[in-house]
Amino acid sequence: MTSPLAQDLADFSTRLLSQDLDQRLQSVVAAYAGQRIVFSTSLGAEDQLVTEVIARLKLPIDIFTLETGRLFAETLSLLDETEQHYNIHIQRFRPDPQALKAYVDHYGLNGFYDSIELRKQCCGIRKVEPLNRALSGADIWITGLRQQQSAFRQNLDFLQQDRDRQLIKFNPLLDWTQEQLWQTLKARQVPVNPLHNKGYPSIGCEPCTRAIKPGEDERAGRWWWENPQQSQQECGLHVAQPCSNNEGNQNDTKANP
Ligand code: ADX
Ligand code: SF4
Repeated sequence: MTSPLAQDLADFSTRLLSQDLDQRLQSVVAAYAGQRIVFSTSLGAEDQLVTEVIARLKLPIDIFTLETGRLFAETLSLLDETEQHYNIHIQRFRPDPQALKAYVDHYGLNGFYDSIELRKQCCGIRKVEPLNRALSGADIWITGLRQQQSAFRQNLDFLQQDRDRQLIKFNPLLDWTQEQLWQTLKARQVPVNPLHNKGYPSIGCEPCTRAIKPGEDERAGRWWWENPQQSQQECGLHVAQPCSNNEGNQNDTKANP
């Protein structure tokens, strides 16, 4: 796909602001008709709502998940349940076995607790490399990111260019609040991970996710042992380079006018 003008993306994003979730997804499907649109689901609450819309409206969007090998049993059950509930197929992308073996042989199965660098290496093998495979050949990548999730996610936009992966990233739930999300999930009787009711607003791999305490940030349970200023509580799916400050990078910045 030829690179769209940043200003066009910014204008399109502005139009999406006044639309509801169904309209946002329909608008993007119409605008990029004939191009390959994919949606990455972690089976988290946000992603379950996006899946519901894609399934109900029968949108031409391929859905995939990154089956890291360290997911909660509850997440894996929800994966099967979601496919059956909506009569859809969710493609699984798994880590490269050789890279995984090399990491585990060298650093141990839980080597990621030892340093941010080793944690990001594990995320690189179990999540980022499979993600790049899943996105290869895609033109549009849909995520369930919301601005409210963290300070780092506040400078996202509905549509933004991912220059490294040469595609457009679309965040249709960007401006949704947690309250709005949960009201809609309940009203539509969407199947959700039972861990959400046990203090897990954000769910990733089991050894790297814990329940949060009242008043803590939504993502405080992710990689909780790390200093969030250093790790940004991100794994590389949504930031290209590990960085040790809050500058972010070109992957996740707003389209430049
Ligand atoms: S993460 O980078 O910290 O793991 P988070 O759990 O907040 O991400 O999810 C944000 C978005 O990243 C999700 O809406 C989804 O699009 C994508 N994502 C995260 N984890 C996965 C996964 N295991 N499989 C597919 N997509 C995922
Ligand atoms: Fe590895 Fe933890 Fe990252 Fe999962 S979240 S890929 S287990 S470091």
